[in-house]
Amino acid sequence: MKISLVSAGPAELNVDALAIPVATGQRLADSAAELDRAMGGVLSEMVVNAEFRGRIHEVLPIPAQGKIGPRRVILYGLGALHDLDGQRVRSAHHELVRASRTWGYKRMAVLRAEPLGMDSLKAVIEGCVMGTFERRSRQTGAAPERREIDELVLVGFGAGREREVVAAQENGEATNRAREWQNAPPNELTPDALAQEAARIAQRHNLELEVLGPAELKSGGYNLLLGVGSGSAKPPRLIRVRYHGNHEKGDGNGAALALIGKGITFDTGGISLKNPENMSQMKGDMSGAAAVLSAIDVIASRKLPLDVMAVVAAAENMPGPTAQRPGDVMVSADGKTVEVVNTDAEGRLVLADALTHALRNGATHLIDLATLTGAATIAIGHAASAAVSNDDGFWSLVDQASREAGDRVWRLPMYADYRILLRSQIADLRNAEYGEAGTIMGGMFIAEFAGGKPWAHIDIAAAAWNTNLELTTVLRGPSGAGTRLCIELAELMAPRAAELISDGER
Ligand code: BES
Ligand code: MN
Ligand code: ZN
Repeated sequence: MKISLVSAGPAELNVDALAIPVATGQRLADSAAELDRAMGGVLSEMVVNAEFRGRIHEVLPIPAQGKIGPRRVILYGLGALHDLDGQRVRSAHHELVRASRTWGYKRMAVLRAEPLGMDSLKAVIEGCVMGTFERRSRQTGAAPERREIDELVLVGFGAGREREVVAAQENGEATNRAREWQNAPPNELTPDALAQEAARIAQRHNLELEVLGPAELKSGGYNLLLGVGSGSAKPPRLIRVRYHGNHEKGDGNGAALALIGKGITFDTGGISLKNPENMSQMKGDMSGAAAVLSAIDVIASRKLPLDVMAVVAAAENMPGPTAQRPGDVMVSADGKTVEVVNTDAEGRLVLADALTHALRNGATHLIDLATLTGAATIAIGHAASAAVSNDDGFWSLVDQASREAGDRVWRLPMYADYRILLRSQIADLRNAEYGEAGTIMGGMFIAEFAGGKPWAHIDIAAAAWNTNLELTTVLRGPSGAGTRLCIELAELMAPRAAELISDGER
């Protein structure tokens, strides 16, 4: 989709459709008044008459009958003003573009109109680009339901903002790439296939790449990752892509951000086998990996002045004669003993070793993204990712990144009271407990491996795959949750790379 900024009057545009945003309870924007007049007042009539209410995801095409240049005008809803945030703006545009694609519009324009300000450019573009996402079909001979839009024309956003346009388009496309990986069948996207995707990214930007297989994992002591992968015929991989962006200062003087992704390419639960109902959804248990790989692709292409590594713990969690058992005690890469009481709590195990690997490679700040707990859906549903962090300063950066990316995260507490959940009779830690505070417990397990560095854990279990669009504004289906969050976090940290470690964090 080609995206351009134009300053021509919207009524002169030669496009299939011109879209105008409306918020609930607001009248038609002043910037649309001239168009409304040219169309004999039908636009304001629809709004005043409440035939179009401006509800979020509401999209209404109106034929222009040759009265203006555009063939159609589309009114689309933003929802109530006081509810409007970056995620909702993106979601509204996502649905606008999806609807337009079912109607076959090829050239479409979006008019900037109140309440959207000039600073909404990024959110508008990201939302529209994400709306072009289509899961790659494996159906033979079926006609596609939605078509592609060739050109998106943005009206009223000012001129000379081409760099912002390119960056926002990249962010949207990176999110879509993560979504495609999430959706890939688990027989295709194996741990090794994930490593090959990482290799492609490394090659594209000339980045350092390291892929550890079983032999290297064994000598490095990554037994938690090995244990999770031991039931599968497809061996685990510990993948690390390193972007050296701190050139002038030289590595070792600035912050080094590790983006760590859970890459379980399929989660059967292992011997603690899951219920067959919906088990196929567990192909998405590598959504964290998808997000961090997609993010570092953009970070490297933008040449941000910050050291960033993506670390992916990739494995398939299967039952079988060589699988680990509930009750096994494993020694982690950093030497802690872990009682594996439930083989289905595998994400925290592979992430623990991945954090150790990031620290061994000089990470000063850590963020992990993982479809870790079903409890995250219970806690906050599909509306946001749940999070915990050991550092208020780092958290405030993550929180800011989340707002600017329109990729919601909500922090849960880590009261010391919860530590009892991690207690084992025979090992340093146990990996699971039933009942309370499941999302927090998962995070607190991982926190034990952060080496005291600023760390945040983002549980994307619910937000990564939205099955309930009626309720929320996380993108439908695979959402690419966390992708834009990671890109934005790197953007925020880059200008402060030196100062972020000056308080003796290293
Ligand atoms: N991958 C799952 C979590 C999950 C569930 C993600 C549903 C997306 C949708 C994870 O490995 C898991 O099985 N977690 C267990 C932990 C429990 C055994 C402590 C869970 O949430 O039931
Ligand atoms: Mn599991
Ligand atoms: Zn899992």
